[in-house]
Amino acid sequence: MKKTTTYFKEAKKRGEKLTMLTAYDYSMAKLIDSAGIDGILVGDSLGMVVLGYENTLQVTVEDIIHHTRAVARGAKDALIVADMPFLSYHISVEDAIRNAGRMIKEGMAHAVKLEGGEEIIDKVRAIINAQIPVMGHLGLTPQSVNVFGGFKVQGKNKSQIEKLIKDAKLLEEAGVFAIVLEGIPKEVAERITETVSVPTIGIGAGVHCDGQILVTQDLLGLYSDFVPKFVKQYRKLSVDIMEAFKEYISDVKKGQFPKDEHSFKLDEQTKNELEK
Ligand code: KIV
Ligand code: NA
Repeated sequence: MKKTTTYFKEAKKRGEKLTMLTAYDYSMAKLIDSAGIDGILVGDSLGMVVLGYENTLQVTVEDIIHHTRAVARGAKDALIVADMPFLSYHISVEDAIRNAGRMIKEGMAHAVKLEGGEEIIDKVRAIINAQIPVMGHLGLTPQSVNVFGGFKVQGKNKSQIEKLIKDAKLLEEAGVFAIVLEGIPKEVAERITETVSVPTIGIGAGVHCDGQILVTQDLLGLYSDFVPKFVKQYRKLSVDIMEAFKEYISDVKKGQFPKDEHSFKLDEQTKNELEK
């Protein structure tokens, strides 16, 4: 079944939890989609997980478009959300609409995600006016890492909490279809979830959110440069993968791969002709 932004909004009314994962390429998107996920985010976590940067700040619009197209080819039913990278929606409303539009036209995404509340609310409104669905993102927003002084949990004091609730309400009024809540105490996420009518999608925000999202490589145990407290590693695939690579190397060195079953052969007639 095709998942839409309307499906997301109605799931909250039904009290049905929403599920999202990140993907950056065709084959992983195809697996995640086949498993029955509701939404796939082509996150700017791409910068860390796939491109090997220290944070998400160097990711470009072109990077996200390139990977979103690949994900879109792999996903049949999931709602595809493209992350707007740092500085692609901060300069002007016009620039924000143009970049968001590229995510849809060139990236084949269904929606875009922007980090922030009040500071960017004019951009959120303008993008929605351009008929592009927007997902909000509040809390530990990684594009603000240098302002926060590191990847630090947000919403830990009264003024921060009040700002989060205010921002969530502003985003709801602007017409976002969902809000990602990242790295905030679960009580705060619960308050926001009760306050707004649009679904909250949590990551490091406790169980009371209307849905959850994780970085796929974190869930699979494929990315170990940094494993935050909120990650549950459902597998440690890096161990399996390492073993497979080592077996391959050893097989080739010993002449045990490829075997006959992996090899093409000449037919008898050609063989005989060659021998003449
Ligand atoms: O870039 C990303 O993967 C994200 C999610 C973790 C919410 O923004
Ligand atoms: Na992101």
